[in-house]
Amino acid sequence: MEDRGILVVGSMNVDMVVKTSRIPSPGETLLGGVFQKFEGGKGANQAVAANAICRGAHFCAGIGDDSFGREYLSYLRGRGIDVSLVKSFGDCATGVALITVAADGQNAITVAPGANMMLSESDMEGIDFSKFSHALFQLENDLSTVARGLRLARGAGCETVLTPAPARLLPPEMLPDIDYIVPNEIEILQIVPECADAESAAQKLISGGVRNVIVTLGKRGCDLYNGGGKRHFPTYEKIRPVDTVGAGDCFTGSFAAGLKICGSLAEAIELATAAASLKVSKAGAQSVASLEEVRALMSQK
Ligand code: RIB
Repeated sequence: MEDRGILVVGSMNVDMVVKTSRIPSPGETLLGGVFQKFEGGKGANQAVAANAICRGAHFCAGIGDDSFGREYLSYLRGRGIDVSLVKSFGDCATGVALITVAADGQNAITVAPGANMMLSESDMEGIDFSKFSHALFQLENDLSTVARGLRLARGAGCETVLTPAPARLLPPEMLPDIDYIVPNEIEILQIVPECADAESAAQKLISGGVRNVIVTLGKRGCDLYNGGGKRHFPTYEKIRPVDTVGAGDCFTGSFAAGLKICGSLAEAIELATAAASLKVSKAGAQSVASLEEVRALMSQK
């Protein structure tokens, strides 16, 4: 039987990055360093990360009929990603993200989503989700598109993964369609604003129907919550952060690939933690390590 692959449905943005000493305050002008342009967008970042661990990832996104979109598409093809589900929209621009990266590796991001928001429920209805083992979504597309995609993917037997970023309130009927939700510690309190801490917010999501909640904690690792309780996973503290943009996406894409190639959920999280730690040591949201490099770091623990 043909192996079912990983599908990422999500955003592709061109990241316009300036390094500064620190993130500027509102109303402040800061002189930064050199300007750099990278491929980004939470969806594309996850597809690239998944593909680095487990070849043959598929990507579904909306792009504009412009030079940014065309260049980006040929770059993704060059990285071995199946982009046959990427749709071009003639009347809008490819997504762009304006990003400030501070000297300590922290970042601030503003996204002009453009064609990412054009992807629709009917585009989800055109996908044969039964071809895929895992389907990943984020929130840089229209919420109704994400909700429809999650429902169809789960109905077709995929394991579903949602990155709730940029954070917004989720409709309660969406929760049972989510096998894994992967917020950071800020996002989880934004999607469950009635809770004061991540643990109670995670429990609330689980009682709403989500099966696993993985709260990423930056250099402190992550916490997994599910029917088995809570488990903490530490990260690799010795790695010096250069650029944290896309670290969460690298974690999630690698995690989905880990679910395919690892023997357990815990091992998939450990693999994702190592992959995200390596990503942070390099500039650019898609500067992801190979499976061999990830395994080498894991063996040092
Ligand atoms: O998660 C990082 C990503 O967020 C960047 O690549 C940027 O494009 C925004 O989508």
